[in-house]
Amino acid sequence: MSVSKPIVNFYDKIKPRLHQRIGQELRLAYRVLDLGCGACELIRYLSRTYNQKVTGVDISSNSFPKRRGVSKDAKNIRYIRKDAAKLSFIRSKTIDAVVIFWALHEMEKPQSILRQARRVLRPGGKIIIVEFPRNSLARKLWDEDYYTSRQLTAYLRKAGFEEICIRKIERKQVLWVTGFRSKNVR
Ligand SMILES: C[S@@+](CC[C@H](N)C(=O)[O-])C[C@H]1O[C@@H](n2cnc3c(N)ncnc32)[C@H](O)[C@@H]1O
Repeated sequence: MSVSKPIVNFYDKIKPRLHQRIGQELRLAYRVLDLGCGACELIRYLSRTYNQKVTGVDISSNSFPKRRGVSKDAKNIRYIRKDAAKLSFIRSKTIDAVVIFWALHEMEKPQSILRQARRVLRPGGKIIIVEFPRNSLARKLWDEDYYTSRQLTAYLRKAGFEEICIRKIERKQVLWVTGFRSKNVR
């Protein structure tokens, strides 16, 4: 099936806006972890704009920037080729915020990944998951299976997250999910 240009452009067009939105929500965080970071666009944006220390993790290094670079933000970012279900190289309770941007649906063990995300978050730390709703333009475009809000809520609850909030944004073409690790140290 040929993909019409306007649909492709919709997601390309809103991506910078979503980066900004994530930045706003996480502006008070310092140590941020981006799981499924792809080409590291988000981690670079966060480091450049908010001076955050951001680690990107991706199971494939194919999209990683070819050169580490000497830009101002380079010292505050690192990107590592690892399975997000295996974060043993990050100590527990050391991360202020975890982001999974358009990536959870591609990950084989979502439940293990969310458990790991919770483990590394400090008490009170936040998770943001950005996904595609099941019946969205993305489905027409890439013919992938996406989670329902109910499934995502169940995964997050099971992983131990609290105050879970899910809404559709950007003309209902994007799922915006947030949750917290409880402030009580458990
Ligand atoms: C659609 S891309 C999104 C990349 C990036 N977040 C963005 O928005 O540009 C999904 C990414 O998830 C990565 N991925 C899939 N399974 C993973 C896993 N188990 N651990 C870490 N990364 C994974 C893929 O390699 C891919 O780069």
